[in-house]
Amino acid sequence: STPSLLILAGDGIGPEVMTEVRKIIDWFGAKRDLAFDVSEDLVGGAAYDVHGVPLADETMAKAQEVDAVLLGAVGGPKYDDLDFSVKPERGLLRLRKEMDLFSNLRPAQCFDALADFSSLKKDVVAGLDIMIVRELTSGIYFGEPRGISVNANGEREGVNTQRYTESEIARVARSAFELAKRRGNKVCSMEKANVMESGILWREVVQKVHDEEYPDVELSHMYADAGGMQLCRWPKQFDVIVTDNLFGDLLSDVAAMLTGSLGMLPSASLGAPMENGRPKALYEPVHGSAPDIAGQGKANPIACILSFAMALRYSFDQGAEADRLEKAVEKVLADGLRTADLMGPEGGSPVSTSAMGDAIVAALDAS
Ligand code: NAI
Ligand code: MG
Repeated sequence: STPSLLILAGDGIGPEVMTEVRKIIDWFGAKRDLAFDVSEDLVGGAAYDVHGVPLADETMAKAQEVDAVLLGAVGGPKYDDLDFSVKPERGLLRLRKEMDLFSNLRPAQCFDALADFSSLKKDVVAGLDIMIVRELTSGIYFGEPRGISVNANGEREGVNTQRYTESEIARVARSAFELAKRRGNKVCSMEKANVMESGILWREVVQKVHDEEYPDVELSHMYADAGGMQLCRWPKQFDVIVTDNLFGDLLSDVAAMLTGSLGMLPSASLGAPMENGRPKALYEPVHGSAPDIAGQGKANPIACILSFAMALRYSFDQGAEADRLEKAVEKVLADGLRTADLMGPEGGSPVSTSAMGDAIVAALDAS
């Protein structure tokens, strides 16, 4: 049956970049006979305006049924003073929580044409293609007990708890090994087993999953602080990095800056397999709703377009078509097309959001 895709464009530049993704989706339907059953709905402030909540129950139910969700971005100044319970980002958090998306994939990929744009030396980043897998639903951001209270000495104390069960570690490890099999067949697991109990367990469980289920994938372990150094020193030594929620938050932001602009970064969040074997999945650009440039045709649509490429690869088993789309992006960049965010301080003449989308479609046509 036709694979289904729910589009939640959201707020700010979300709908602008999603318009360009729709052009790409239509191209695959028309030219590659790859049709999707696409539905659209509201999330974030856009949903609040209509329903009084940032994600309606019907939208949540739809998200649980489709093969993949593609989200733009949520939030904006108009909603900054809303009560916490109905803030736009709560819509996104509800999706992640109720779909139980425990594995967050953040690629750091450097297109050659943008190698000069990185904060690192060109030869360190040119051709870089690594994937950080961050555990997303457990660890210190969720562990109990937590809170600020007065301790026995009468002093206030802030508490968070890092807590991981074996099954939580095992499932994210499996998702990293599965990914590695489709890529460079190499996983580096990062924790701090030298000083953290959860790190000791993490290392043990990742090793066990490896030995029992993925003995042919190359596995190494690294302390997360050393990992941060190695990411900046020589990132090309890595293929897949798997790490916990906290370290993954930091390391994926570091890795992001290896490659340049926020407008280029896609992500995927995956959960357990559904009945049809596909994982529960949400794809979204890393960036937010960019209110400073919203409505001006300045947004870079590539992060969202590459998020759709990830959907092709990880939800729809269309790796070759994902490659085709990524090559088309590479081609327009090599041709010198740049949205404003991809211009250095010396400036130049940037193209608009829609001109970038059209150029990628034209590059697909030529592929
Ligand atoms: P942001 O990612 O929206 O913007 C940061 C800077 O990057 C801005 O200068 C923006 O113009 C630029 N930028 C971001 N995406 C771009 C793109 N595709 N093309 C060109 N330039 C781009 O983060 P910020 O400003 O901290 O947050 C703005 C709003 O977005 C807030 O309401 C925040 O809560 C929300 N937000 C939502 C996220 C999501 O939906 N996943 C993630 C981060 C923030
Ligand atoms: Mg972060």
